[in-house]
Amino acid sequence: MPHRAYVIDEMISAKSIAARIEALASEIKTAFTGTEKLIVVGLLRGSFVFIADLVRELDMNVEVDFLEASSYGEAMESSREVRILKDLRGEIGGKDVLVVEDIVDTGFTLKHVVGLLMSRNPRRLETIALLDKPSRREVDIKASWTGFEIPDAFVVGYGIDFAQRNRNLPYIGKVRFTDDEPG
Ligand code: PRP
Repeated sequence: MPHRAYVIDEMISAKSIAARIEALASEIKTAFTGTEKLIVVGLLRGSFVFIADLVRELDMNVEVDFLEASSYGEAMESSREVRILKDLRGEIGGKDVLVVEDIVDTGFTLKHVVGLLMSRNPRRLETIALLDKPSRREVDIKASWTGFEIPDAFVVGYGIDFAQRNRNLPYIGKVRFTDDEPG
């Protein structure tokens, strides 16, 4: 992808994210009351920051595992074909599972992953997405919990990349291209 010039405008602050995660963790703990162990599955790579903060707010017995699914690669548009690049290390049959996603856009990734994991017969499977862009949805799926619904903006930070850059921003920012602005 050619390197276009852009700036990043803050959209959701680190403080707002932290407060929302605290509230979500409390809802999740209540929903999973009585669960002996919750398998928290992060979808790589985008969810690595979110899952790290989320599990530290979940004072319950958790096991962390990761799955890598990719539909975008280096592209800006979904390929609509989800590939599993890295599977879970552990078995989930008969277990309680929470799938952690950074963003639901067209919905292809989450739908595919949920279908795959449900075929392994977990006792219960729920999903959480930090961000949701409902206006972009192409398949019928919604996470059990959503951090923030956002408009169709190009976002980066807090784990989310633009051509592998900006994942390390502590907040969610909106990309604004400056090379097509009049000037
Ligand atoms: C991004 C993002 C979600 C998915 C959402 O992943 O992290 O997993 O796309 O899009 P969808 O709802 O249209 O399927 P990507 O394939 O870019 O990989 P990454 O997480 O490694 O950045």
